[in-house]
Amino acid sequence: MHSAICPGSFDPITYGHLDIIGRASALYDEVVVAVLVNQTKGSMFTVEERMEMIREVTKDFANVRVDSWSGLLVEYCKTHNIPAIVKGLRAVSDFDYELQMAQMNHQLAGIETVFISTSPQYSFLSSSLVKEIAKYGGDVSEHVPPIVLTQLLARLKADKS
Ligand code: PNS
Repeated sequence: MHSAICPGSFDPITYGHLDIIGRASALYDEVVVAVLVNQTKGSMFTVEERMEMIREVTKDFANVRVDSWSGLLVEYCKTHNIPAIVKGLRAVSDFDYELQMAQMNHQLAGIETVFISTSPQYSFLSSSLVKEIAKYGGDVSEHVPPIVLTQLLARLKADKS
């Protein structure tokens, strides 16, 4: 069985992430979408909330499962016998850091990284921008699934009151 992992912060998941997850699910027998806990990065949603949203929006992909991890990505891969990491590349600006991580992960544990080029309509999309735009009242309904939009607006409303 060929499996792969799509790791990320997913705070929250966007259509850009979903595009990569869907395309990875067509390439591999099983795809684990893993919410990685980043201690240095503040987050809007808890890991559980992020996982729940991902579960909901990936429910049509039968071979996708959702998990979380707070250590090194390669440790998760080794423990679960996952030989490949799938990452989306939006633009050249992503490349330097992604290449560095891919080389490090390969050096650490022989785990391969497979890059999928983001669909052009998502090349400018990021969770950070979505949160910023929504915070200032902008419309992000084209960028996140409806269930994520609902949670995002509810969280922003709760934070205001
Ligand atoms: O969505 P993000 O924040 O761009 O995802 C980055 C992520 C979570 C994939 C990356 O920071 C990561 O792999 N973190 C886990 C810790 C780790 O293994 N760090 C060493 C990377 S070489």
